[in-house]
Amino acid sequence: MERDVSEILFSEEVLREKIEQLGDKITKEYQGKELIMIGVLKGASVFMGDLMRRIKIPVTIDFIAVSSYGLSTESSGVVKIIKDLDDSIEDKHVLIVEDIIDTGLTLHYLCENLLSRKPKSLKICTLLDKPERRKININVDYKGFDIPDEFIVGFGIDYAEKYRNLPYVGVLRREIYE
Ligand code: IMP
Ligand code: MG
Repeated sequence: MERDVSEILFSEEVLREKIEQLGDKITKEYQGKELIMIGVLKGASVFMGDLMRRIKIPVTIDFIAVSSYGLSTESSGVVKIIKDLDDSIEDKHVLIVEDIIDTGLTLHYLCENLLSRKPKSLKICTLLDKPERRKININVDYKGFDIPDEFIVGFGIDYAEKYRNLPYVGVLRREIYE
């Protein structure tokens, strides 16, 4: 599995430090508010688990699953909800937790969809961002790292459902998907 990775971008240690900083920031900014964290399955699951443990105010969590690339490495732009939220978000402060923003199509769709449910506020937290690849503007409120236009895996992020359990974020060798 590790042989398929050409370079480690962010080690466990570096990820831990960054997530601690994000958690502190979110803790401060949502002080006195009731926060619902919404993890986007499956990629954000690892980040979500670490991030919520760094947030020192009461939170509730929920998950949503949207259609992904399948076996390809390109976003189709067609987004479908595969698993919806369990609970209403009406009048609640909502934070979407995402693994990576690429074209932005997935999050754009998700934000429109969630906004129609009338939350009190809606913000976005992503671990990784590939700003060069953006096709549609997204306002990111909390971000871990910008990354170059390369296909990455690990720390929850997959290629064809594999590599999610790598404890770091690494670049997938081109031979694997080309
Ligand atoms: P977008 O709609 O193009 O912004 O794609 C967002 C989703 O595509 C993310 O939630 C990831 O699941 C997936 N994705 C984007 N870039 C990568 C990558 O480099 N490796 C693995 N998955 C990715
Ligand atoms: Mg994915």
